[in-house]
Amino acid sequence: MYVGADVISALQFTRSDVEKLIALAEEIRRVYETGGRLDVAKGKVLFTAFFEPSTRTRLSFQFAMIKLGGAVVDLGPEEVTSMAKGESPEDTLRTVDSYNPDIIVVRHREPGFAAKAAEICRAPVINAGDGYNEHPTQALLDVYTMWRIFKRLDGLVAGLMGDLKYGRTISSLSYTLSNFRDIKLYFISPRELRPREEVLKILDQRRVHYELVERPEEVVEKLDVLYVTRLQKERMSPEEYERLKGSYTVTYDYLARFKKIPVVLHPLPRVWELSRDVDVLPQAQYFEQAKNGLYVRMALIKTILGV
Ligand code: NCD
Repeated sequence: MYVGADVISALQFTRSDVEKLIALAEEIRRVYETGGRLDVAKGKVLFTAFFEPSTRTRLSFQFAMIKLGGAVVDLGPEEVTSMAKGESPEDTLRTVDSYNPDIIVVRHREPGFAAKAAEICRAPVINAGDGYNEHPTQALLDVYTMWRIFKRLDGLVAGLMGDLKYGRTISSLSYTLSNFRDIKLYFISPRELRPREEVLKILDQRRVHYELVERPEEVVEKLDVLYVTRLQKERMSPEEYERLKGSYTVTYDYLARFKKIPVVLHPLPRVWELSRDVDVLPQAQYFEQAKNGLYVRMALIKTILGV
């Protein structure tokens, strides 16, 4: 990962990029958790442009930049910008880029939008989610969380469950894990929600071992990690949502019947697919996962700024 790099796809990440970002995130975490500060981004500005809803991704990028001593400008909701007058997101970005931000973080419902933004903008662009396509920085915090728990990524067995077709965290996480040795992925979903062909093709090219399964009970006891995702309601037809709703739910009682309960992760937000009674289990690590997003994004910002 070089200074000034755009971060558009997790396919960009090498094993060494991931390892360096994890090491840097750990270092930054130590500084902050012992009351230190790192004002390395002083005088730099990060611009967040979210054309789709977000809580964790937007706010953790903003917190990350401010905690590094930098400043943040946020686009704000559509109704207060000229988008409400019919301006295109492209024109909005071109204009803000001319004010010279040091990094632009962008989310949009259109697959490929981040790549387009990177062409338009002089500033480095970070993809914070482009439709069903990718969410590379989520993958970084997902693997950082796994590394913190297992102290390695090689040899991990992960079950990725839920909406694997429209969930952009799935493609990015699979691509990122594909850099490591002896990874085994179980894609757990109804047939209609299996990962897209283009994603499986890339995993085949990268010689990743994976299996498609329909019922979690077939594999739960083999897993180190169960990564649950929500049905991407906004990316499917209402009929499809109604049909698939409730096709899988992870509850405390469901997990309690297995001899071995894997670490449970979720990119959040959760709706009904992961019940709140799971939170009491020591294996429930999704809030820790969200917290890790802060440190890994600080590491990424620091790296891209070259400070
Ligand atoms: C995810 C996303 O936006 O893709 N959320 C997140 O960034 N943590 C997952 C989701 O919305 O289901």
